[in-house]
Amino acid sequence: MQQLILDSNTWLLVLTGAGVSAESGVPTFRGMDGLWENHPVEDVASPQGFVKDPLLVWRFYSQRRAAAASVQPNPGHAALAAWERHLGDRFLLATQNVDGLHRRAGSERVVEMHGTLFKTRCSKCQRAPFEDTTVYPAGTVPGCRECGGILRPHIVWFGEYLDPADMKKIESFAYRGSTSGGRFVFLAAGTSGVVYPAAGIVDRVREAGGETWLVNLDPAENSGRFEYNVTGKSGEVLPKLAKLM
Ligand SMILES: NC(=O)c1ccc[n+]([C@@H]2O[C@H](COP(=O)([O-])OP(=O)(O)OC[C@H]3O[C@@H](n4cnc5c(N)ncnc54)[C@H](O)[C@@H]3O)[C@@H](O)[C@H]2O)c1
Ligand SMILES: [Zn+2]
Repeated sequence: MQQLILDSNTWLLVLTGAGVSAESGVPTFRGMDGLWENHPVEDVASPQGFVKDPLLVWRFYSQRRAAAASVQPNPGHAALAAWERHLGDRFLLATQNVDGLHRRAGSERVVEMHGTLFKTRCSKCQRAPFEDTTVYPAGTVPGCRECGGILRPHIVWFGEYLDPADMKKIESFAYRGSTSGGRFVFLAAGTSGVVYPAAGIVDRVREAGGETWLVNLDPAENSGRFEYNVTGKSGEVLPKLAKLM
């Protein structure tokens, strides 16, 4: 296996997707066949779906919350946390996962691009999103104690925009890394390369002269655009991939 050298000259941006949590027992979209209890995932993970049936949406997210809380980070998560301890501020992790496993494994410089299962916000007022680990009983929809509106998961649903502040953090890290005079590396793991803008980061990095790595179990939609492709499970590949110097 090719080795990824992480030395004092290296800046590293990592992008993870559902595949990184698969070995922890969190199903990927493909693993679920795009369905939850026979509902297309788009029906339970979109603003339209929430307007139509908030009970169903909360049942889906309460179930995912409980499931994510009951599994453990795997060696892939742990490897990324170790790389961060080594690189410090020259490391940033952008994740499309909402399961909280990176933070539980010790990652701190994390941008949760698609939100998190463990926060809730109001669908009506501007109250800030808040920590919430409650698994709401089926048949209930939590209400906002400030405005009486209904609460929703703090998740970026299909058809919704990513938080511009998150995108800015990623862009400014990539800018600092690629103008640092050092070596800028982008590594994506466990992501199918279909969902934009995440799937386009590889192209931005190449334009800026960065090095690009993909660790994935199956060929991703954008595999051909990475310089280095490592095929395998992230929980097995990541712990062996880097040489910390
Ligand atoms: N864990 C989670 O939080 C979770 C789970 C399912 C879906 N999602 C959401 O689904 C969207 C789908 O995009 P995506 O690209 O993240 O997921 P995806 O399900 O579309 O693709 C997962 C990719 O991971 C690969 N993979 C599967 N097991 C792997 C392993 N052990 N090691 C390495 N690679 C493995 C697959 O080959 C696939 O290409 C995202 O927006 C995300 O928010 C999140
Ligand atoms: Zn409110």
